[in-house]
Amino acid sequence: EDYQLGEFPDFMRKEMAEQPEAVRRALRGRLDTRFATARLGGLRLDPRDLRAVRRVKFLGCGTAYYAGQVGANLVEELARIPADAEPASEFRYRNPVVDPDTLYVAISQSGETLDTLAAVQELKRKGGNVIGAVNVVGSAVARECGSGVFLHAGPEVSVASTKAYTNMAVSFAMLALWLGRVRDLSAHHGTRLVTAMQQLPEQIASILETDYEVAAIARKYAHAKHMFFIGRVRGWPVAREGAQKLKEISYVHAEAYQAAELKHGPLALIDAEMPSVVVVPQDELLAKNIGTIEQIKARGGPVIVVTNADLPDGLADAVLRVPRNEPELDPILLTIPLQMLAYHVASALGRDIDKPRNLAKSVTVE
Ligand code: G6P
Repeated sequence: EDYQLGEFPDFMRKEMAEQPEAVRRALRGRLDTRFATARLGGLRLDPRDLRAVRRVKFLGCGTAYYAGQVGANLVEELARIPADAEPASEFRYRNPVVDPDTLYVAISQSGETLDTLAAVQELKRKGGNVIGAVNVVGSAVARECGSGVFLHAGPEVSVASTKAYTNMAVSFAMLALWLGRVRDLSAHHGTRLVTAMQQLPEQIASILETDYEVAAIARKYAHAKHMFFIGRVRGWPVAREGAQKLKEISYVHAEAYQAAELKHGPLALIDAEMPSVVVVPQDELLAKNIGTIEQIKARGGPVIVVTNADLPDGLADAVLRVPRNEPELDPILLTIPLQMLAYHVASALGRDIDKPRNLAKSVTVE
């Protein structure tokens, strides 16, 4: 392995810092400004194949599963075809109904996760149409799928995935744009998204520059025993991935919840000792999200927001800010500060960031 730490204290920090460059690599040669679309050559699909897709299902484990949820939202928004994500680890055990008109996407950084590989084998046995979204060329999932999209994130060593997640989400934005443009997504909308994707590397770099502020917030809340991560629709997979990152490397108990579900139970847990991280995109649900924050505050719960919206002064106790882009891409940018938050909580607690207890980078056993 010639992938070295260099100036960085650990690989997670290095890999977070590499995200602008990793996204640039993922986009290179795949955006088509002339036809306002994206093209993923490795998929070996032509417009007729793309039109035949009636549903998309993303399968992955852990962070790859949450990236799949981002992908499913993007496909529904841009291509208006039904899409969802499911943990690959459950798939083969429930005798899944495999539909020939569904495009299955098996997501794996390592390409060696046994549960994901087994899902691919189950799909192939039942004649399913499965492609890979894999970072490691020549890995088991890549070979088994035969075609797919390579993530081009470069080597990822830290158990907690960062740049691979981001490149998964960016790749699914391109897939969704492509599926959308062979259907009814307008050239105007396509152009907006192509331009927006080109801005991502710079925008991610600017979020990484807020490290000092994020670290200060992390230190303030690092003593918490539990944290909620709250989001709705576009913010929901972001909340799940944020909770996952915090759990994995800091061992602080974190639970992700859909904002509207709070009132159906978890609100009972809110008190001054239970901070909530609320994901607040500048979109049509902004007023609803502000309402959620008010509900939490009214019960004495501290609130950290991660947002690109202009929120009323004093609404939240701490703000993690990201730049604005096209709303469909918000989940990509809103996740970055949550990686940084988890990193700094873990480091304030003196955890072994790259090698969290009980976890492996890729799980090749059942
Ligand atoms: C392990 C790691 C997670 C990772 C998951 C899927 O559980 O601890 O961080 O998200 O595997 O890994 P993959 O290589 O398939 O993306």
